[in-house]
Order: sequence, then structure tokens, then C-alpha cells
Amino acid sequence: MALITSTEMFAKALNSDYAVGAFNVNNMEIIQGIVEAAQQENAPLILQVSAGARKYAKPAYLTKLVEAAIIDTGVDICLHLDHGEDFDICKKCVDDGFTSVMIDGSKHPFEENIKMTKEVVEYAHAHGVVVEAELGKLAGIEDAVNVDARDATFTVPEEAAEFVAKTGVDSLAVAIGTSHGAYKFKGEPRLDFDRLKEIRKLIPETPLVLHGASTVLPEFVALCNQYGGDIPGAQGVPEEMIREAAKYGVCKVNIDTDLRLAMTAEIRKFLTENPAEFDPRKYLGPARDAIRDMVAHKIRNVLGASNKR
Ligand code: G3H
Ligand code: 13P
Ligand code: ZN
Repeated sequence: MALITSTEMFAKALNSDYAVGAFNVNNMEIIQGIVEAAQQENAPLILQVSAGARKYAKPAYLTKLVEAAIIDTGVDICLHLDHGEDFDICKKCVDDGFTSVMIDGSKHPFEENIKMTKEVVEYAHAHGVVVEAELGKLAGIEDAVNVDARDATFTVPEEAAEFVAKTGVDSLAVAIGTSHGAYKFKGEPRLDFDRLKEIRKLIPETPLVLHGASTVLPEFVALCNQYGGDIPGAQGVPEEMIREAAKYGVCKVNIDTDLRLAMTAEIRKFLTENPAEFDPRKYLGPARDAIRDMVAHKIRNVLGASNKR
């Protein structure tokens, strides 16, 4: 049992119809809920830390909590930096023991993105760490990367091929219509599967990554709103679309918003129903259980990753 890279996980998932879940972590309960689900489902697992998460929890805490989860459960985990904005944060995470980093140069011009990514690839590979990069822009808000919805541009397949050849990156995040957060589509959800298939055709050996892949599960949105929340009109990527994407080279599916909603829904419910309680364990416990059950559902029924470890 150890911290591992995603190399083997992706090699197995690449020509199969399942994908590995990459879940964002910020604290102990979130980590415990996710890892318990992966243990229960015997599934491969990526835990990812954003710059914001790193700042919130302080770097050593999250690394040590993930190491503790491995000791506690025996589940091998890939520890990944989500949306690293420059070489410096990627280097820090490599030096801290992460097994995977993302350099997100998607807001920069193509050549600049190539240059930044190459620099990170060289350093990371020299240290046995794998690298994800991003090409194309997702609508919405990425960590420290504000992208106006109107400027969102999807990944150009030919550019993806050139980018991978020139950078030697291990996996590539593509923009095909998803976005971060709880408000992904104004009307009917739609992903550009033709574009995804074309990208796959040109770079069949490169594992693809789908950011902004939360479903924004209606039951958690409803619970939040029922117990004092105000998140109307939230809409995510339908589960069947995630399953479909896994057939066309998507090996890594990023999920954060669904974790936030599950946790918040349970805490809101508990505190509303038990106004006299003030022991954090009383509401963080059910929140952790909700995360576990939701992640287990995703692994089994959406990602199809049960027993793929
Ligand atoms: O891609 C964004 C992730 O949901 C991380 O969000 O930067 O608020 O931690 P954060
Ligand atoms: P969601 O906001 O859809 O959960 O996406 C998370 C993500 O892409 C993290 O990188
Ligand atoms: Zn993302």
C-alpha cells in the first residue's frame, strides 16, 4: 500500500468503458468518506488537491491525511495537484510527495501553454511524477483561472495532437462542454461527443480527463434548499453522459461539486432537525457517510470502476 501514480490505472482504463474517479479533498471527513467508498468498491482512486485546498488546510495536513487513509484502509492512492497555475506550485507538490500534478496553462496562448507544460513535465518526470495538462477552456471558474463563459472555447483535436507530441504530457484535460460548479447548463445538457471521438482518434494512447464532471445530484440540491439553502437552477452533467465519455478515452473524471453538495445537504439537515446539538462530530459524521455513499454510487453505477483496482 502506497501513494502511486495514475500510470497503471489509466493504462487499464484507456481501452475499457470505465473511468477512474478523481475527487477533490479539503479535510479529514471528505478524505475518509471517499477512501472508504473506494475500499468498499475495490476501485482505483485519485485524490486531488487544489491550490485553494492547499491554502485552506495547509499543505502538510492533506498529504499526511492521505497517507493516514492509505495506512487505515490499505487502498493505494494517486495524490494529484488540481489546476496548478505555474511551475512553482507544481514543483512544490512534486517535492511534497504528490504522485501526479496538473499544470493548467489553458488560459495562456497555445505556445505558452506548451512551454509551461514542457517545463513541468521535465521536472516531474525526473522525479517519477506524472503530469496532466489542459487544452481548451472550460466555462466557469477554475482555481485562480477566471474564464468568462462567453470566451469558452472547446479543444481543437489537431492542437491536442500537436500539444501532446510537443510536451510529452501523460494525460490531457479537454473542453467539450462541461464547466466547474453547480450551474453547468442553462438549457438541455449537451457535450460535444463528436469532438471527443476526434481527439481520441488523433491521440489514442493519451488518457483524457473530464473536468467539471459533477452531476449536481438533484437529491442533494433539494435537501440543501429544503433546509434553508438557496441554490435554484443548479444543473450538472447527466450520469449517462459520464458513462458515455468513458468509452471514448476519458480515463479520469473530476468531481468536487457533488462532494460539496452532499456534505452541505447533510449538515444543513442535521442542524435544522437538531437545533440543540453543537458537537461537530454529530453533523460531520453523517456528512462523511453521505460522501461515502454518494462516491460508492458514482464508482459503481456511473464510472463503472468497481473491482478495477
Ligand atoms: O476545479 C475546481 C475545483 O472544484 C477546486 O475548487 O479551487 O475552490 O478548491 P477550489
Ligand atoms: P465539478 O465542479 O463539476 O465537481 O468539477 C470539479 C473539477 O473539475 C476539479 O478539477
Ligand atoms: Zn477542474
